[in-house]
Amino acid sequence: MKRKLLTVSLLALSTAMLGMSGTTFADEDNKGGFLSRWFGGSKPGVAPVENLRYLEECGSCHFPYQPGLLPARSWTKIMASLDNHFGENAELPAEDGNMLLDYLLKNSADGSSYKRSVKIMKSLSPGDAPLRVSETPYFLKKHGELTPDMVQNNPKVGSFSNCSACHTQAAKGSFSEKEILIPNFGAWEENEKEERGDKDRKR
Ligand code: HEC
Ligand code: HEC
Repeated sequence: MKRKLLTVSLLALSTAMLGMSGTTFADEDNKGGFLSRWFGGSKPGVAPVENLRYLEECGSCHFPYQPGLLPARSWTKIMASLDNHFGENAELPAEDGNMLLDYLLKNSADGSSYKRSVKIMKSLSPGDAPLRVSETPYFLKKHGELTPDMVQNNPKVGSFSNCSACHTQAAKGSFSEKEILIPNFGAWEENEKEERGDKDRKR
């Protein structure tokens, strides 16, 4: 009896926490055990970057992707091919490269308890080592509703790799829906509300 009560109150608490970070308990990608949901939901987003060298070296051409956005095996591949990095040469002196790889591996999605890292990992098969965050199944699922006019044809965005163009708090590791503002389209929550309204009217 006592145990049941504890379970119920833990459930209520975790539901409240999940709700706070913009997801409901019934969110279909919340599968997995109760414990992983509990721990996975304990910290929203991904861990922010705290390595200044990383911000400098890997944030000079694009948004400095947090280590928690990809598994260690992806970072190993990316850092081993910097001379041919998405059509650019991003090679670093060996010492710097090794230091940054070490930082990436210690903070990769595999070892993280942040919610988005856990979800990205859950969406990958054990052998998958994608070179892009924007090609992980979790990412593709979350961004399926966006149109080319919002992304590729939008001069202020250009590509899905440009996280901070839409996620205003991306640099802090936060990707909450409330903080999404698509240039020339506005707040995503408002877009969603309008669409829901349209659907209701049609029904
Ligand atoms: C000389 C410029 C340059 C530097 C320096 C650079 N990159 Fe990139 N990176 C690129 C380009 C170009 C792309 C492709 C962007 C696109 O498709 O819009 C890219 C894409 C990426 C992606 C995939 C983004 C996605 O779509 O999910 C990752 C991950 C990445 N870079 C990691 C790094 C890391 C780690 C470093 C530091 C070691 C680094 N980059 C330094 C130019 C650079
Ligand atoms: C063109 C704008 C745009 C770009 C660029 C973009 N996103 Fe998103 N992202 C969105 C929108 C809109 C959603 C919400 C989709 C929905 O309704 O579920 C979203 C959802 C997310 C979510 C889930 C948030 C949640 O609370 O469910 C994560 C995590 C995320 N994006 C990460 C990224 C990362 C990492 C990048 C860069 C590699 C990126 N996004 C690039 C628009 C963008």
